[in-house]
Amino acid sequence: MANLTIVGTQWGDEGKGKIVDLLARTAQLVVRFQGGPNAGHTVCSPRGRFTFHQVPSGILYARTRCVIGLGCVLDPFRLNEELDEIEKKGIRVEKRLFIDRRTHLILPYHRVLDRLQEEQLADRRIGTTGRGIGPAYGDKYARIGIRAGDLLNEDRFEEKLRRNVAAANFRLMEVYKAEPLNFKQVLTEYWEATRGLTPMIVDGTLLIEQALRQDRRVLFEGAQGTHLDIDLGSYPYVTTSSTVVAGAALGSGISPFWLEEAVGVAKAYTTRVGAGPFPTELQEREGEQLRELGAEYGATTGRPRRCGWFDAGLVRAAVRYNRLNALVITKLDVLDSLPEIRIGTGYRYQGKKVREFDPFLADGLEPEYITLPGWCEPTSGCRRYGDLPVRAKRYIEKIAQLVDCPVAMVSVGSGRDQTVIVDARRLRWLKSG
Ligand code: GDP
Ligand code: IMO
Ligand code: MG
Repeated sequence: MANLTIVGTQWGDEGKGKIVDLLARTAQLVVRFQGGPNAGHTVCSPRGRFTFHQVPSGILYARTRCVIGLGCVLDPFRLNEELDEIEKKGIRVEKRLFIDRRTHLILPYHRVLDRLQEEQLADRRIGTTGRGIGPAYGDKYARIGIRAGDLLNEDRFEEKLRRNVAAANFRLMEVYKAEPLNFKQVLTEYWEATRGLTPMIVDGTLLIEQALRQDRRVLFEGAQGTHLDIDLGSYPYVTTSSTVVAGAALGSGISPFWLEEAVGVAKAYTTRVGAGPFPTELQEREGEQLRELGAEYGATTGRPRRCGWFDAGLVRAAVRYNRLNALVITKLDVLDSLPEIRIGTGYRYQGKKVREFDPFLADGLEPEYITLPGWCEPTSGCRRYGDLPVRAKRYIEKIAQLVDCPVAMVSVGSGRDQTVIVDARRLRWLKSG
């Protein structure tokens, strides 16, 4: 038996998609356990480049089954678009893609409210992806959400939708002085858009549990990153789901005692889209240089990502929250041309040393740096750890030491083959594949 949970250790976009796709080669089941179309997971495969928003990144292997877990929120319109694109590239998802019946749905009013709430926050805005994520999870916790299983019964769906559209319209008109939605139109369009999806709606928890019981290989795919977690992240500049390893159990509907090991994906530097603290952020020319080198533009919204040095205090906290067995360092090649590379080793707060990123202190955290010499050689052709320049290896080893977690793999390009195994013993998943 083997199962592996993959999470982001920073603020998202660490390259989880590439790593999930790569490690899914030997998986029988891949489960997305939280988030929704706010995610953009890029996979470069022989079939072309894919950006997955809601479909698990294991879908490219014809024998792999995929579940959109109950911890996700699902936008059927966006899922249809995504499926169209995937199918155009020759990937068939029939009888391979499933949606848990407990998964909450994103409705048109969630998207409208997401935008209006952001506008109202003015200079405190979070910079959401505008996909309706926060309002959809809000309804879930307010216990008025509509779930995928509700799409199997027209009367039930209509009744719930009628109530929710009325409530949303009240808010839209009274609070935001905005146009109300037309219930009949929402109902008709939503019902139509979801007819093709109903065969996928199942009790996902049973499917996942059965796979685990039968010793199948199961991958749990996280979205966003540890510091965007609703509880452990840089609140309020976070997303609204549990992005950490604990979320894999909750968001799949299985006992946490099933989970065997976890790997954290960390970019060789740091990026963030949207607002919120970012101690090692680089400003202006330096930030732009890293953005251009790493092509750091959002996979979902196209927004330029804020860029900065690797922040060991940030990843160290992620190692602890997730109890990571190992790290995968991505985008090492992006640093190839830099003569000097800095690493944030920790912080000072009012003169005192602080080892871990702490959102309560975030505004006053002053990062401390070490500077390492760059390797100034291309790494994207490296396939074995021994192929990497000595200084690149030193960089990796320094990161591992600072964050107190071994590195199992390094990624040196977006392609599947552009991956270097550093130490396969660190992950049972690699050994047993
Ligand atoms: P995710 O949200 O964590 O899956 O990451 P994204 O897909 O949003 O962003 C990562 C970007 O970096 C994508 O465009 C990937 O194709 C690309 N990428 C992943 N790994 C590497 C790498 O090792 N080197 C380079 N240069 N690009 C990479
Ligand atoms: P992947 O899975 C990077 C950020 C948004 C915003 C905050 C809240 O591709 O790594 P939301 O729309 O979720 O309410 O926005 O979270 N955010 C992401 N940043 N990568 C993501 O996903 C993100 N998903 C949400 O930019 O700051
Ligand atoms: Mg992304």
